Amino acid sequence: MMISTLPLISRISTPCKYLAAPGPDRKCLMSLLAEALHVPDHGRLRPWRFILIEGEARVRIGQLLFERVQRAVPDASAARLEKERTRFAFAPCIVAVVLNPVKGHKVPEIEQVLSGGAVCMNLLHAAHQAGFGAQWLTGFAAYDRDVLAAVGVAPTESLLGYIHIGTRTETPSERDRPDPLALLTIAAP
Ligand SMILES: Cc1cc2nc3c(=O)[nH]c(=O)nc-3n(C[C@H](O)[C@H](O)[C@H](O)COP(=O)(O)O)c2cc1C
Repeated sequence: MMISTLPLISRISTPCKYLAAPGPDRKCLMSLLAEALHVPDHGRLRPWRFILIEGEARVRIGQLLFERVQRAVPDASAARLEKERTRFAFAPCIVAVVLNPVKGHKVPEIEQVLSGGAVCMNLLHAAHQAGFGAQWLTGFAAYDRDVLAAVGVAPTESLLGYIHIGTRTETPSERDRPDPLALLTIAAP
């Protein structure tokens, strides 16, 4: 397992267009995924899984995404269509985090979704600590059933996020972050 001293507060998303090869090799990716899976999981349901999108799969899915948006959004601009076509073309490693919910369980589905969100966040942190840039994206590609089928997501599953991982070609500047004090209320004794 990799040991890093990078503080989590230094994590920042890198827009996927600024992510390039090299990405994590298989061994490194397995470490990142193992770290991502260190999440609270009420009922030990393990309601999540991963699909790795790399190489030519990125081109195939990008082309389908282009065609689906073109059909579904007739007034989509050329720039929007081009953005969709190239969305998966930058980062060498894209991990689709998939929710496979256990229906009718006493652990409500919202808790299973939250656990899956924690997997996504852990993966961003793991990538950061390993020195990679990363971004959590959804958009049309996360909700269109034709695109999801092409990725390998079953009709009973949901896509929680595409986590794009790679080497930064530009360093993003820090964003304005909320002051925790402004968001904190102390409950009455
Ligand atoms: C569930 C989820 C979905 C997101 N989907 C998109 C998206 O489709 N497009 C986008 O530009 N940003 C999206 N974002 C925002 C980026 O992942 C990221 O938060 C943003 O670039 C700000 O970076 P930060 O992580 O440094 O705050 C999404 C965030 C979350 C939590």
